[in-house]
Amino acid sequence: MPEPYIRIRGLTQQFGVNEVLRGIDLDVFRGETMAILGSSGGGKSVLLRHLSGLMQATGGSIQINGVEITGLSERELGPIRRQMGVLFQGGALFDSLTVAENVAFPLRENGLMEEAEIVSHVAAALAIVRLSGQEEKFPSELSGGMRKRVALARAVVGRPACVLYDEPHAGLDPITADSIDHLIRDLQRTLGMTNVVVTHELRSVFHIADRVVFLEGGKVQWTGTAEELRTTTHAELRAFVAGDSGEPWE
Ligand SMILES: Nc1ncnc2c1ncn2[C@@H]1O[C@H](COP(=O)(O)OP(=O)(O)OP(=O)(O)O)[C@@H](O)[C@H]1O
Ligand SMILES: [Mg+2]
Repeated sequence: MPEPYIRIRGLTQQFGVNEVLRGIDLDVFRGETMAILGSSGGGKSVLLRHLSGLMQATGGSIQINGVEITGLSERELGPIRRQMGVLFQGGALFDSLTVAENVAFPLRENGLMEEAEIVSHVAAALAIVRLSGQEEKFPSELSGGMRKRVALARAVVGRPACVLYDEPHAGLDPITADSIDHLIRDLQRTLGMTNVVVTHELRSVFHIADRVVFLEGGKVQWTGTAEELRTTTHAELRAFVAGDSGEPWE
């Protein structure tokens, strides 16, 4: 068995009386693309926030690359966050910053890179998402799909070991959604990135995912390969997928 890059055990998260995560056990292996499926409000975004060290768990354990991150201080979380690129649900670009400034943001925040190096990294990241030449535009001047691609460039600009994508396809036309899938695949192949992708797009799941997790009721209800998803007899998962795509499958 390959080494897990992310190892989650018994992870719980509660907001008041709302038990969102009720004991998540999950391994994400180094270099794989894992898709997370599940109902709206089921805790997928909360789980991703935990993986990027942006939230304190109520209980349980998360190891990233062998390091336990629960209970770490803000300062100790710095090196962990630098290994993780995050594409937030909705993009979350800074409206007052240009495209280039948005993409450069995590590099400037780390303070580890010379300005000339930052400029070349930003250019490379924008080329990957096919937005070269758009450096000086502001987010308000871009289409939704372009904004998404800027957010993607920002997530990968530091060549993180792992990228967390929260609904990268939402609101995109099928062609742009496909181009995002190609990017995710390319990054995995060329840089060996580990990818965790929350998505409702089943088409994309079959394009990009090595393995799939079905999160429901605050727990992992099913894990399998994309191929196993096609033929699963898990009733809840089949119902979820059928309802989601609006068409019967198989
Ligand atoms: N910071 C917070 N404080 C309190 N409750 C929160 C917080 N963040 C999330 N929640 C609650 O946690 C639950 C799960 O939210 P989450 O955003 O993870 O859902 P999701 O699975 O990503 O849904 P969607 O598919 O709609 O994006 C919701 O009930 C939400 O109200
Ligand atoms: Mg969400």
